[in-house]
Amino acid sequence: MKKFILLFSACLLLLGCNNSSNKEQSFLIKTPVLERPAGQTDVLELRAEPLPVVRVAFIGLGMRGPGAVNRITHIPGVEIIALCDVEQKNTEKVNKMLEERGLPKAQEFYGDTSVWRKVTALPNVDLIYVATDWKSHAKIGVQAMNDGKHVAIEVPAAMTMDEIWALINTSERTRKHCMQLENCVYDFFELTTLNMVQQGLLGEIIHGEGAYIHGLQPYWDEYWKDWRMDFNKTHRGDVYPTHGLGPVCQAMNIHRGDKMNYLVSVDTKAIGNPAFLKKRDGQEVDNFRNGDHTNTLISTENGKSILIEHNVTSPRPYSRMYQLTGEKGFANKYPVEGYALSSENLDASLTKNHEDLNAHQFIPENIRKALMEEYKHPIVKDIEEQAKQVGGHGGMDFIMDYRLVYCLQKGLALDMDVYDLAEWCCLIPLTEISLDNNSAPVEIPDFTRGNWNRVQGVKFAL
Ligand SMILES: NC(=O)c1ccc[n+]([C@@H]2O[C@H](COP(=O)([O-])OP(=O)(O)OC[C@H]3O[C@@H](n4cnc5c(N)ncnc54)[C@H](O)[C@@H]3O)[C@@H](O)[C@H]2O)c1
Repeated sequence: MKKFILLFSACLLLLGCNNSSNKEQSFLIKTPVLERPAGQTDVLELRAEPLPVVRVAFIGLGMRGPGAVNRITHIPGVEIIALCDVEQKNTEKVNKMLEERGLPKAQEFYGDTSVWRKVTALPNVDLIYVATDWKSHAKIGVQAMNDGKHVAIEVPAAMTMDEIWALINTSERTRKHCMQLENCVYDFFELTTLNMVQQGLLGEIIHGEGAYIHGLQPYWDEYWKDWRMDFNKTHRGDVYPTHGLGPVCQAMNIHRGDKMNYLVSVDTKAIGNPAFLKKRDGQEVDNFRNGDHTNTLISTENGKSILIEHNVTSPRPYSRMYQLTGEKGFANKYPVEGYALSSENLDASLTKNHEDLNAHQFIPENIRKALMEEYKHPIVKDIEEQAKQVGGHGGMDFIMDYRLVYCLQKGLALDMDVYDLAEWCCLIPLTEISLDNNSAPVEIPDFTRGNWNRVQGVKFAL
């Protein structure tokens, strides 16, 4: 009996649940915060010297990169200095596009996976724009800043905690911008909804949902050297969380008044991608790591919850979910865009018929349209038409590039900083840890190293 009691107490101690009311002692897999190097300060609201003309070099010109070059050509005050890809045919194709548009040809760099080092070292470049495969993002980002350049990196910008901390430390030391190119925060519905949230229409947001649900079967064979399938094959967890998480974090003011504290993940077994590979390659794949569907729940300091899902194989309609539950209202983007509002929260001038305003269902279409017009985000107003014309996922990609260039030209803080990058990317390594430990809660570190509450609210500088 004595032996049993001893064993039981030891188990409790091991689990750390001997005092479940004490947050510090409850079971949580700790995630270390790297000590800030001496003499370094944070880059919250970092502003750099204005660049009336932004000179850009692009690295990575596969499926995604050429569209970015095209979009940037529509923004005044930008020069395209260099184009870089491992494959010569990719740099040539994009330079031909520039020529056909009557623009100066850019210097081409190609031939191997290290040639980009010559590009980050160019003396006549201000911004390095990276759209390579995931594993090369952070390495290029760190070197770009060390070479004195601002850097914008496609999603996800970093895949490991080491890469995340390297980007943060380099941005803090060099005082160079390091922005993740998270386009989904600029989609029209998300931007309008963010404006509604900031003006209090939905009340305090208590729960948010986001996702990347997109069957990639038509694209798997197009990725350079199968990099994306390889990453999924070898990594469990949410390997592509930023499209779902980014807009929710902005609506919840993460590291601008709130912070994410911990996550737990639950996934399914892998069926879809192994079946795809068996059909394609004629071989069984053992130990495919990434489950078909991964769910992650996050808890925040201010008592809010976030649900993020990942599924790139099931035959489902595309969805980023984007759902916000507030004390006075609700927003939902997929599969149908809609808002529900508590009736006392509606401007009577919007409708004469209060019978229409039932908080248990979406508000009627005419009222939704009127509301979306009224709450259109200020950064969209001037460029909406051009964004729709130039395109890129319906225009949001253009708004992202436009904002990046606008803020660099004016020397303003960028819309997204390196801590957003860190928070949105850290789900990749941390969900893997949770899943490999029977869905144990894993701590999400404070990447600002103590300053998450200094800036209040997400701001887009104008
Ligand atoms: N934000 C979005 O909506 C969105 C959409 C699609 C892709 N992406 C992201 O864009 C990035 C690129 O995706 P993709 O679909 O174009 O992949 P891709 O495989 O088509 O293109 C990657 C390109 O990078 C090049 N490359 C790889 N390593 C390189 C290196 N060391 N130096 C120079 N070039 C190198 C390859 O030759 C290839 O042309 C990924 O991070 C992806 O997640 C984002």
